[in-house]
Amino acid sequence: MSPGKLVIAIDGPAASGKSTTARLVAERLGYVHVDTGAMYRAVTLKVLRAGIPPADGQGIARLLETTHVALRREGELIRVLLDGEDVNAEIRSPEVTRAVSAVSRHRSVREMMVREQRRMGAEGGLVLEGRDIGTVVFPDADLKFFLIAGIEARARRRGEELRARGISPDLGGLIEEIRERDSLDSTRDESPLRKAEDAIEIDTSHLTIEEQVRVVVERVRAVGEGKGA
Ligand code: DC
Repeated sequence: MSPGKLVIAIDGPAASGKSTTARLVAERLGYVHVDTGAMYRAVTLKVLRAGIPPADGQGIARLLETTHVALRREGELIRVLLDGEDVNAEIRSPEVTRAVSAVSRHRSVREMMVREQRRMGAEGGLVLEGRDIGTVVFPDADLKFFLIAGIEARARRRGEELRARGISPDLGGLIEEIRERDSLDSTRDESPLRKAEDAIEIDTSHLTIEEQVRVVVERVRAVGEGKGA
């Protein structure tokens, strides 16, 4: 049975396995996967292209007045559109990764992203992944997960991802970058990264992807049956 129309929140720090888990869980359940980090990355790309310093909240708020970020589904892939342009590759660049936490902390950015995410989630049937889904975007989500993993496991995974795209990072640098981003994301004033009280915590350090996905899918099916979905 495929439980229909639930809203599933998956939050956690950088490289904790959220994206892969969310994508595969959505695929198995026939749900839509919403990568909210990709939306913050798209805004960051626009800020960098415009030459606006990531700390300039007013400049960014002005830029947002003429900015449109959308996610489009193409078969099993989700494409991020920035003002209609497919920016899927650019948003994963090291420059965007370095600046994204500084851009995401501004209230104007968060308000715009959250509005769009709630609009997408209104009908259910969604797996959303990010930092504030269970706490701010959908505090009433049907099921919330909080993924964590040891820093070395996370850096290793991020390294594999980058190598697959032809970039060869050094492990020490990646550990630094992930620590820095987690620290900025969890200490900001606006909707910081934190585990919702009712979220189920999963430590993915020693789990295979298949195991992570299975834990989440089984929980979702149980809740779906309980709700008669
Ligand atoms: O999941 P990711 O690494 O692609 O996310 C990139 C950044 O976007 C992350 O460091 C902080 C920000 N972000 C956020 O503030 N809120 C979210 N719901 C998702 C991402």
